Amino acid sequence: MLSMEQVDFAYERRHPILRKVSLSLTAGEFVAFAGRNGSGKTTVTRLLMGLEQPTAGRIVYDGVDVTADSAGERSRYIGYVFQQPERQMFRATVAEEVAFGPQLQGLSAEEVETRVGEALAATRLTERRDAYPLHLSRGEKQRVAIASALAMRTRFLILDEPTSGQDGGDRDTLLALLTTLKEAGIGVLFVTHDMEIIAGYCDRVIVLADADIVFDGTPEQLFTQETMPDAWGLAVPVSVRIGRQLPGAPYCPRMSDVVQRLVAGGVR
Ligand SMILES: Nc1ncnc2c1ncn2[C@@H]1O[C@H](COP(=O)(O)OP(=O)(O)O)[C@@H](O)[C@H]1O
Ligand SMILES: [Mg+2]
Repeated sequence: MLSMEQVDFAYERRHPILRKVSLSLTAGEFVAFAGRNGSGKTTVTRLLMGLEQPTAGRIVYDGVDVTADSAGERSRYIGYVFQQPERQMFRATVAEEVAFGPQLQGLSAEEVETRVGEALAATRLTERRDAYPLHLSRGEKQRVAIASALAMRTRFLILDEPTSGQDGGDRDTLLALLTTLKEAGIGVLFVTHDMEIIAGYCDRVIVLADADIVFDGTPEQLFTQETMPDAWGLAVPVSVRIGRQLPGAPYCPRMSDVVQRLVAGGVR
């Protein structure tokens, strides 16, 4: 388990960004992290990763306080995909980029090569292994960052708004990959504004507003609430809204659920 306990945070002497924030992520779950622009989502991911230090509270990994551990140390168990993944790529080829972490860990050349080969296969980048990372598409760069985490065998993966500004094909490829990783036991924290993804793919959703966690539950619990305050910056997905109008008002997390209901109703 990866947790943040009672964390306070502010950039320099500015107003507090987080006040006594606690949240946790378990292996094998796909968790959405939502909230308005500027609410502090990226800040939370940077605190989990060790790129920022809390002013109070702690970060805990498997019962151990890791607040003082550097981002490099935490990269053994947390993979991180930046909103702009090119900012985390420094090497001349995709394979070298993915090999970087395992090499730093001091693994043998043979073990590094095995891990790189497996990570590239899992992310469908085998054919791009000799490509220059900065020449790849955004979707491919994200997959290089994910491959780097897989090569480190991290238990957790954090992605900061990976699907914003992305086309449908890249989005579907990414979601299919993340679903596979979740099923393999990796805990995924996915920062997103996409209500369709939250409803259709995520096991849990955490919402940040006014420097605190204002919701932590299933997407169904979130989208079937009486009201969602404007401050949360959320909307009910179209499929859920249509579902409410159907006989029996079923909860429809995806459009395919709506279609299924309509087909079933038509046959009857
Ligand atoms: N390096 C920084 N220095 C000062 N203020 C920052 C810095 N990074 C972010 N902020 C401010 O902190 C708040 C939260 O930012 P951020 O965590 O990026 O939110 P989100 O990812 O939810 O959009 C915003 O008001 C933002 O302007
Ligand atoms: Mg952000």
